[in-house]
Amino acid sequence: MASERMRIGVLISGSGTNLQAIIDASAEGRLDADVAVVISNLEDAYGLERARKANVPAVWIDRTDYRTFRAYNEAIRDVLLEYEVDVVAMAGYMRLLGTEVLDAYPDRVVNIHPSLLPAFPGPSGIRDAFEFGVKITGVTIHFANENFDDGPIIAQEAVEVAGDDTIRSLEVRIHEAEHRLYPAVLQLIAEGRVSIVGRKARIEGVSQGR
Ligand code: GAR
Repeated sequence: MASERMRIGVLISGSGTNLQAIIDASAEGRLDADVAVVISNLEDAYGLERARKANVPAVWIDRTDYRTFRAYNEAIRDVLLEYEVDVVAMAGYMRLLGTEVLDAYPDRVVNIHPSLLPAFPGPSGIRDAFEFGVKITGVTIHFANENFDDGPIIAQEAVEVAGDDTIRSLEVRIHEAEHRLYPAVLQLIAEGRVSIVGRKARIEGVSQGR
């Protein structure tokens, strides 16, 4: 990235605790990037309120205002372009993303998911892993594509499931890991150290399997 600070567009559908972690990291100097705009598909997503409190533009784009999935995604893309977003971060955005957005931001759209992908994709990754009975689950940050929770993996953090865990106690530790990992990965992207080589994401300066 050039000397200007990277501008992140955050897509949400819910409470926005990951958005908050990104905003806080930016304010505290742990992330050399700014949240330029927050877009939600749901009007009552609390993350929109978090954005307003941080003086970040908060935009609700209602799917029902658009006749087609394509037109809806064009509207998202146009807002991202209007706010001169460099990188799109999906943070609990619970819809598929259209090619209209993905094509405007090639290798520049990332997603966070609360499991060790490719295990347990979908809207309830923590619960699905817990109910399956895995001993280790975790968090994945990956480049997004047009499928749910799919694309080259940038970083993962493992979280052990203890014998006395409840879904709630596991959730707390997963969210803690998410709130650490997402700003850290966005910082690597801001430093220009993350790329896609073939099917895999690669972090410059970090040795990893071929
Ligand atoms: C996060 O746990 C995120 O990983 C998950 O939604 C939650 C949003 O929480 N995303 C997915 O499950 C995507 N499949 P937040 O609104 O408090 O950041």
